[in-house]
Amino acid sequence: MTPLHHLRAGIIGTGFIGPVHIEALKRLGVQVTAICASTSSARKTAEQWGIDEVYGDYDHEAMFASPNVDVVHITSPNNVHVEQSLAALDMGKHVICEKPLGMTSEETARVVAAVKKGGKKGPVFAVNYMCRFFPAVLQMRALVERGDLGQIIHVQGHFFQDWLLHQTDFNWRVLAKEGGKLRAVGDIGTHWIDAVSFILGAKAQSVFAHIETFHKTRLRPKGQVQTFAKVDPKKMEPYKVDTEDFGSVLLKFGNSKHGYANGVHANASISQVAAGWKCSLALGIYGTKGSVQWDLQQPNEIIVGRRDQPNQILQRATPGFDVDVANFTDYPGGHPEGFSDAHKMHYRAVYEHIASGKKIPALFATAEDGHHEVKLCEAILQSSKTQGWAKI
Ligand SMILES: NC(=O)c1ccc[n+]([C@@H]2O[C@H](COP(=O)([O-])OP(=O)(O)OC[C@H]3O[C@@H](n4cnc5c(N)ncnc54)[C@H](O)[C@@H]3O)[C@@H](O)[C@H]2O)c1
Repeated sequence: MTPLHHLRAGIIGTGFIGPVHIEALKRLGVQVTAICASTSSARKTAEQWGIDEVYGDYDHEAMFASPNVDVVHITSPNNVHVEQSLAALDMGKHVICEKPLGMTSEETARVVAAVKKGGKKGPVFAVNYMCRFFPAVLQMRALVERGDLGQIIHVQGHFFQDWLLHQTDFNWRVLAKEGGKLRAVGDIGTHWIDAVSFILGAKAQSVFAHIETFHKTRLRPKGQVQTFAKVDPKKMEPYKVDTEDFGSVLLKFGNSKHGYANGVHANASISQVAAGWKCSLALGIYGTKGSVQWDLQQPNEIIVGRRDQPNQILQRATPGFDVDVANFTDYPGGHPEGFSDAHKMHYRAVYEHIASGKKIPALFATAEDGHHEVKLCEAILQSSKTQGWAKI
């Protein structure tokens, strides 16, 4: 494996996911040299993690000017992703941007153009659809790619959470102007769609969707809160909700290069108000020779189903998983790996791609993939309004 300690990272954002990036990078041996956020939280995070350069007042431009940052991680809210991505690319920095890539396809197209303009020698750009890097997801992809499941017929699943179940649960994602017009589907549904697209080796081409808002009015705290933080209901005020709590999405995929997944139909239920479900991304891929199922809440195993043979439970880091999938896992079987490890494996893949001079194939989501997910969100919104199929 290429040593990664010569590459230096600068992080924007210190909320829920920023420290997940920092921790994963530290475990990979990447130097985290700079942090950017509000002055107080940037200082606090720098102190906690031993980060030398602190850029307060959300001054990302100052951080991009630092000669000690090679790769920028954008973990700020969605409405500043494009502005920060373009500025980082302009300074010649490699970027790992949190999903979604931006608020509208009009603005994300600018990121795609900027990456293209950089050319073969230009900066590497990745969008953090890190579910691709669960070994289980890579193994499902291998099963489909080599025809073990036969011709894929359909895909089914859900992404359920419950952290926005109560009327008093608040986060900037609930506001369309801060998180984007699609919330549950845009925030977590796109992880499901990207993972399915990665497994099939095909892109979604059209959608039929229905989205609903259960809490038409919610209560919000006066001031900002971090994701998953608890707030005293007495310090809250009512506001109208302009994003959905849950939705159902039917997707029609295009053709795959390997030919085992052509024109596949998929359906997913997405909810952030599903009591008891914390972070359940579940999917089943059904083919003519067999099926495979997985749930992110049991990330280390997949169930392979057969009509005329016994079903099997295959476990990560045992002979049930392929050798190339083993490059994306660090611990032996029976020693669980999960959410933070998938982040770590994603960043390793991106940094190795950078360190190899782009010679190692890019399995990660590119700016084009991120742009496609935003176009998909727009089609989902349109379909839900017109109650008909919409093309992406
Ligand atoms: N890939 C994943 O698994 C995953 C998981 C959670 C969140 N996310 C994504 O990460 C991003 C952040 O989500 P979060 O849950 O950490 O939110 P959060 O609200 O907990 O944190 C956001 C952080 O960004 C800072 N910030 C706000 N405006 C900024 C600006 N203009 N410049 C720099 N920093 C700014 C805030 O102070 C805060 O530190 C979102 O885009 C979200 O979709 C991805």
